[in-house]
Amino acid sequence: MTPQTQQSSAPPAPVRLSLDTLTQRNIELMAALEHVEAARHSWAERIRGFCRKFAPEVICGMLSCGDAADPERESDKGRQRHRGSVSPALLLLGLRGEVAYPRSPRQVAARLRPRAGPLSSLVLLCYSAPSASRLAAVVALVPVVDSARALEGGTMLVTQQPVLRRFWYAAVPLSHLQDGPRPFTLLNTTMVLFLDAEGRPAALADRCCHRTAQLSKGSTAEGLLVCGYHGWAYNRTGHCVRIPQADAQSIPADAQVPAYRCAAHHGYAWVALEDPLLPLPDTPEAQDPQFRRIDQFYEVWQCASLRFLENAFDNAHFAFVHTRTFGQGDQPTPSKYALWPTAWGFDSETIVPVHNPPHAVRITGDPHPVTTRHLRNKWFLPFTRVFHATYPSGRQHIIMHCATPIDDRTMQLCQWLYRNDTEADCATAELIAWDRAIVDEDRAILEATEYDVCIDTRHGVECHMASDQPGLLMRQRLLEVLHTYGETEVHR
Ligand code: FES
Ligand SMILES: [Fe+2]
Repeated sequence: MTPQTQQSSAPPAPVRLSLDTLTQRNIELMAALEHVEAARHSWAERIRGFCRKFAPEVICGMLSCGDAADPERESDKGRQRHRGSVSPALLLLGLRGEVAYPRSPRQVAARLRPRAGPLSSLVLLCYSAPSASRLAAVVALVPVVDSARALEGGTMLVTQQPVLRRFWYAAVPLSHLQDGPRPFTLLNTTMVLFLDAEGRPAALADRCCHRTAQLSKGSTAEGLLVCGYHGWAYNRTGHCVRIPQADAQSIPADAQVPAYRCAAHHGYAWVALEDPLLPLPDTPEAQDPQFRRIDQFYEVWQCASLRFLENAFDNAHFAFVHTRTFGQGDQPTPSKYALWPTAWGFDSETIVPVHNPPHAVRITGDPHPVTTRHLRNKWFLPFTRVFHATYPSGRQHIIMHCATPIDDRTMQLCQWLYRNDTEADCATAELIAWDRAIVDEDRAILEATEYDVCIDTRHGVECHMASDQPGLLMRQRLLEVLHTYGETEVHR
């Protein structure tokens, strides 16, 4: 493809996707479209500019459909030649300035294969005037591209690995269930959680078996979950035990909804979708009266659970990410980790010098501008960890982190803290504010990572360094779990 002269005509307006139909992928698309609109250059320059913006990670694809005039003759010829070959759209694939007209997902994949690793990010561009048909074409193209990426291989999608349904995940704080049922999504499975008559949490599929209404829109009464539509009432095993419009003998035998394992643990309702392989993660401080417990954060992140977990064991990012809190910007060399694999994940130990600003002195109990964290952190398969820090002052700051996978792109952060000091030593508000700033620093960068995480390092999707050892061990263990249960890594 040769560079073209700048066009004299006005640049096409970007396609606007309906908010009703937006997925996260569509949001990426919108960002790309806005970039193209701003480019005002020939197609070759747009492709190159786009690749420069996102390269070397990004392959850019351009979607053309309909009969809008393409200012670039060569593309126009190609479009004429291949019109209709990829229904309903013609996909142009630009790779570092190269344009091709693949006819199928397999051809797209073949076009991508010369790169060093699997496709890590793909953004679509629609370069014609906005119209409903082009919007539809953009949306229709997504599965084509997904198929192409699947052929590339090398990344794990948590919702596609059934064995991940066989672990406990923290879902909803028990305190949130006091006011009635709450919806939750775990590994793409929508459910409703509620408290039964004994105050125990229960989890059922969020779909009434009568007319499909979401049970989370209902209420609880006498420990039963009551549908908000016609009042059918369910017990914790998912059986409908009351139909207000009929007597008990008239309840259909099949009037029930799926129930999931649900347990109260550390202030949360935990859920396992299928028979759990490991016990609930634990830390002794939860039962130790020397420690107080502080709830910290319960929030949704646009981030893969594994990205969160490996960050939690990554000493190399402190000097770059935690510059406003504890990171020592002039000390980029990471402390070494010692790792001990266990049945449930691994134990670890590392000693990390940290910046100790004045507002952290009551957190650390140490008046010096630099202090150390003696970390004895634990990883629990698949997405839970205990951060166990001891400062020279003897203060212990022990955080339980659960990065519960909502779906492939999204996680629910559940974070709470144990401290061996008193409110007078360091107030709850101070402890929350301190960790809030740290967590926000992590969130800003983790939400800028790709949601699929390759766990089979043989694919060469990512490069690694010595300090990545904890994250590599996580990948290795997860891959072993997959293989043990007859699965291979499923990717997009
Ligand atoms: S839809 Fe739930 S009771 Fe009718
Ligand atoms: Fe961090």
